[in-house]
Amino acid sequence: MNTLLEKIKRLKVVPVITINDAAHGAPLAKVLMENGLPCAEVTFRTPAAVQAIKNMRAAYPDLLIAAGTVLTTQQVDQAIDAGVDFIVSPGFNPKIVTYCQQKNVIIIPGVNSPSLVEQALEFNLTTLKFFPAEASGGTAMLKALSAVYPVKFMPTGGIGLNNIAQYTALPSVLVCGGSWMVPNSLIDSENWDELAKLVAEAANI
Ligand code: 3PG
Repeated sequence: MNTLLEKIKRLKVVPVITINDAAHGAPLAKVLMENGLPCAEVTFRTPAAVQAIKNMRAAYPDLLIAAGTVLTTQQVDQAIDAGVDFIVSPGFNPKIVTYCQQKNVIIIPGVNSPSLVEQALEFNLTTLKFFPAEASGGTAMLKALSAVYPVKFMPTGGIGLNNIAQYTALPSVLVCGGSWMVPNSLIDSENWDELAKLVAEAANI
């Protein structure tokens, strides 16, 4: 397995972050680094994402950073320029996958059906996001998919403290993604202490 994927596997969960103010990047990275989750999937759902990633990377060179919700090749370029370690997309877009492979950056695209897994296999991708996890059948769907396909999944979407153990118990699950430990309201209000508690709790699963 690729070294980066090995590192991801060692994490309990990948925090999925939506950031409104790029200045929050470095303090949030500090919370993640100091509380046992040295990884951030920063979603390209806000204009602040690119600069937030740059700020995180400058402050913590060892933080694993993904660009999430990547929908265009332009965003792939912006993410690489900002210093991400890998790219995540919610769906399987062959154009994005091809572009990332040309750029030699790891892409973890989203899938939630046998047909999409097979499309991903055509691109030699065997680590896939399972999104939206709960809405797509949750662990029952994952078990059915992994009985057929030699792939590892990063389930995301609807996962929290109440159900993460059901996912991490599956051998096909590399790591889970989730946003519950990095809620927007706490980031916007700069409540780093409360965020630290939630991140530490998630890291101790
Ligand atoms: C994602 O982009 O991966 C999801 O929005 C995260 O899902 P969650 O908010 O249900 O954890």
